Amino acid sequence: MPTYKVAVIPGDGVGPEVIREGRKVLDAVSEVDGFELEWVEYPFGADYYLKTGKTLDEDSLKELKQYKAIYLGAVGDPRVPPGVLELGILLKLRFYMDEYVNLRPVKLFEGVPTPLKNKTEKDICFDVVRENTEDFYIGIGSRALKTPHREQHQLIRELYSLKFNLDVEGDADEIAYQLGLISRRGAERVIRYAFELAERKKKSKVTSVDKANVLTHIYGLWRDAFESVAENYPHIETEFMFVDAAAMWFVKNPEWFQVVVTPNLFGDILTDLGAMIQGGMGVAPGANINPSGTSTFEPIHGSAPKYRGQNKINPIATILAGALMLENLGLYSSAAKVERAVAEVLKEGKVRTYDLGGSSTTEEVGNAIAERVKRL
Ligand code: IPM
Ligand code: MN
Repeated sequence: MPTYKVAVIPGDGVGPEVIREGRKVLDAVSEVDGFELEWVEYPFGADYYLKTGKTLDEDSLKELKQYKAIYLGAVGDPRVPPGVLELGILLKLRFYMDEYVNLRPVKLFEGVPTPLKNKTEKDICFDVVRENTEDFYIGIGSRALKTPHREQHQLIRELYSLKFNLDVEGDADEIAYQLGLISRRGAERVIRYAFELAERKKKSKVTSVDKANVLTHIYGLWRDAFESVAENYPHIETEFMFVDAAAMWFVKNPEWFQVVVTPNLFGDILTDLGAMIQGGMGVAPGANINPSGTSTFEPIHGSAPKYRGQNKINPIATILAGALMLENLGLYSSAAKVERAVAEVLKEGKVRTYDLGGSSTTEEVGNAIAERVKRL
């Protein structure tokens, strides 16, 4: 029987409860489809940090790199200062594993309420491909109380390593600055992924989002990269859109979108908007993908500490992230089965959590989907 070894990081807050249901559903589909998932659990998160002072050290990263897939609940805890776990675990994983694609499907399932008036599941069904290693996320910048000010920064990526010597002179009394960076190869590879995804899913258009009218340098390069990749896909329609307009059209005409490719920061913002139009954070999954390395699958939502242990949170985002994981492992029909089970349970509307207007528990939703998977 084919066996797939998967690292699991349940994490903080509601992470462990949604991961439990995700594993249940994936175990169910593996049983009926004749493969095995071997789960190896890791304790990273707030408790581990408070006990050891470590987020993810080099040894742990090396160990995790042996896997093709990591299934992640959520990290974040009020006992830990903001940013420590987000940077030390989430972003560290994305950068270390070079997970350069952040795939976030925006799909409204039948029976799920959307806040958009007069829009249905026929109108909201597209994929956002967010670049995941560059842009304003590179962490290069500083705060300075007085100039002159001198800083050295290093950026080490799989594709390149760069040194920045920043020498600031002037008479401002307090400043902060942060650099955004796009590389030609970094942009082209994620844009290529978006076009390949469009081909695989038989979509006919790819939309590129940027702000090239103001941030001319970095998004000028992004546009050039988009144009040169697009040349290889002459049968796919293309368009450029500024991010402010994209936010407007996500709400006004979501049916226009099929595949959207975007730099990191705009993708972060737009995918929260995307999550809302597809029915909320409870149903929005994400995949951080390195097509030839380690990828991490997680719900877009955070650890929601105030709901921890209440068996209340919707596990569907995590279950759908599990489907993205199966797809990434090449188990396409099993992934489709999980998605169909979710779609059917949502359409029937009998078992659903509070965010979708129901009163079922996290566990009841997981059970209903796992049972449905076995009957498909
Ligand atoms: C997300 C999150 C992260 C991001 C944070 C927590 C680092 O908002 O996955 O979208 O900004 O990418
Ligand atoms: Mn975000």
